[in-house]
Amino acid sequence: MHNRKLILSLKDINSNKKGNIAAIFSLSNGYMGIQASDPITGANDVGTLVNGFFEYSPITYGEPAAFYPKNNQTIVSLPSLRKIRLLDENNHSFNFSELKNISLDLSNGQLTEVYEVSNQGGEKIEMTVASAIDQKKLAFYGIKFSFKPISYQGKLVVDKHYKIERKNNDGVGEVEDPRKTRLVKSISKHIISSDDFREVIKIETKESQQSVTIEGYSTSEKMLTKRALKTGFDITYIYKVSEGVKNKGVSIEQNSFDKIKEHSHKFWEDVWNQSEVTVSGNDEINLALHFNIFQLNQATGRDGKTNIAAKGLTGSGYEGHTFWDTEMYMLPYFIYTNPEFARNLLIYRYHTLTFARKRAKELGIKHGALFAWRSINGEETSAYYPASTAAYHINGDIAYAIGKYYEATDDDDFMEKYGFEILLETARFWREFGSWTEKGGKKQFEFLTVTGPDEYTAMVDNNYFTNRMAENNLKLAYTVGLRLAKSNQKVFDRLNSSESELREFHHIADNIYFPMNAQYQINAQDDSFFSKPVWPFNKTPKTKYPLLLHYHPLNIYRYQVNKQADTILADFLFPETITDSQLRREFEYYETITTHDSSLSRSIFSAVAARMGKVNHAYRYFTDTVRLDLTDLQGNTEDGLHLANLGGSWLDVVQGFAGMQVSSQGLLKIIPHLPAEWDSFQIRLAFKKRLLDIVIDKSQTQIVLLSGDPMEIVINQSQQTLTKIIKINN
Ligand code: BGC
Repeated sequence: MHNRKLILSLKDINSNKKGNIAAIFSLSNGYMGIQASDPITGANDVGTLVNGFFEYSPITYGEPAAFYPKNNQTIVSLPSLRKIRLLDENNHSFNFSELKNISLDLSNGQLTEVYEVSNQGGEKIEMTVASAIDQKKLAFYGIKFSFKPISYQGKLVVDKHYKIERKNNDGVGEVEDPRKTRLVKSISKHIISSDDFREVIKIETKESQQSVTIEGYSTSEKMLTKRALKTGFDITYIYKVSEGVKNKGVSIEQNSFDKIKEHSHKFWEDVWNQSEVTVSGNDEINLALHFNIFQLNQATGRDGKTNIAAKGLTGSGYEGHTFWDTEMYMLPYFIYTNPEFARNLLIYRYHTLTFARKRAKELGIKHGALFAWRSINGEETSAYYPASTAAYHINGDIAYAIGKYYEATDDDDFMEKYGFEILLETARFWREFGSWTEKGGKKQFEFLTVTGPDEYTAMVDNNYFTNRMAENNLKLAYTVGLRLAKSNQKVFDRLNSSESELREFHHIADNIYFPMNAQYQINAQDDSFFSKPVWPFNKTPKTKYPLLLHYHPLNIYRYQVNKQADTILADFLFPETITDSQLRREFEYYETITTHDSSLSRSIFSAVAARMGKVNHAYRYFTDTVRLDLTDLQGNTEDGLHLANLGGSWLDVVQGFAGMQVSSQGLLKIIPHLPAEWDSFQIRLAFKKRLLDIVIDKSQTQIVLLSGDPMEIVINQSQQTLTKIIKINN
């Protein structure tokens, strides 16, 4: 077993900005999120975030048009569970604080912070804060404050009543950065009951009509207590946050800080056991990888009704919205380590089908469904259609993820209840949305006026990525549908499908047009891409990046310039569609025009470079990716962590350096590319009810079957039967 690095502290991050620390060290459990904001000053605190708890506000259009989305959706900042007020015996507050250390133990989810807190006279006390979030009874959070004298010895007043007068998202106004959040004003907050040891408040949203009850409980001292500091004392508070007006489930007295810690510890033990990713020979990367996986797990809605926001529950950036980020960047990790989480994330999409069908109709497509580009509840909420609704590929992304989930799990129950319906409705969308045209005497199927993944190119014809995703979507509907027609005719009938409909999907898929660039002999990003001039990179100072904050979108759209991987992402997802030599040409071309202004870019370039055998090159992208938030590479970690990129770093290790793929016959393939900087690395993968442990070092690859039946596996092109252990020289 390799040595995991599981303690993250202040020295491991490159910036002491309070907002960055608050986001990086935040605790969450897929249901609620609590940033590590300063409990004394509350600086940068977005309060408590509950997954799926949002408020509507009307979108104001200067020039409205038909079927533009009517409402924003914004995740609500609920009152902080950490904020505390400390007063000296003269009722002067201790309101200056300095963080001395902070450490997050990834093995058990416990966070410890040490602050030096002072009053106006400069008298000091030490405050240690230990906190944990419950990973089993998701409504609970526990926090223990320990006070010790430094230069102040007198009496200390500790007030842990909620500060409920603050507005939502105080201090984060409507700004020009589209990645930030907006103010929500239509929230009401009431105290329901309050006694010496307990305070219960209720928060209601006016428009979305949601409500949350927060119960705070002090296990020993009163909520407002006065004690002599002497050698020091501790106070522990337990919080319960439940949706709805009444508190449901386990009562606060039935839980305790110790139990919360125990539940959390057990959860993390299972996570690490199931999803090992440990590097030997580089502690910094070893730790960063564990941190990324920790935050990925923390962010994930587990109930089939909630998803993963682009920033998880670590900040309010992108307003708590879910994007394609989940399916393309985060789901792979869950599919191959914890399929149950993956299943629930896909079921969330199923629950949004009603909105998706409505959206398709609004766009003139009578049969089928179009999923929201960005949303909390599944309803499209973006006001800027060129970089949202036009990104029709979201349909194909979800279908792709369903295909991959099924390939790795054989979960027929999921497919029959949820998966096939999504595949079918999205395939129907493509059929009606696309059009037959004649090119060079051949009838071909095209998708016009779409935006691909690269948001610096919009509203183009035949985006290569989109066309590939649509092809895959139509083929999946065909193959899964044919199987179901034989095994479970009822499902097939319920959805009103027929074999001739499936054959039509197949026929369309077989005739989709893919743009090529004849000069470079590479896939063209879209029909018009190569008729545009290349962005004047040599005249663009570093300070003008990301371009989206400095140039009008139309200014960007008329050039060849990529915000993120687009055609290269398609190559990554469909390796069988491209030869090695074309991939090399394509990678070189698109790399020179890609800014990586989106955090969804570098990880893909890394994984593809590794596949091409350019391991040093891949490693350079990877080192940026794996520590992207720890170094604040994008400059906006304070708005929340970049969840897709966290998943991307896992993709790089598993699908890049371990070269993991699933062959067209459904066999797991490993093609190792060990970075020169590492001695070895170890990963664990769940695949078709087996758990595999894989260690790749300089001389060999070892695969151990930890559980499940023997299986066929391909290592370095040679097929082997894995019964217990295989060792192959690299
Ligand atoms: C990227 C999108 C992504 C979104 C949320 C944007 O900057 O271009 O691809 O879905 O961020 O992470």
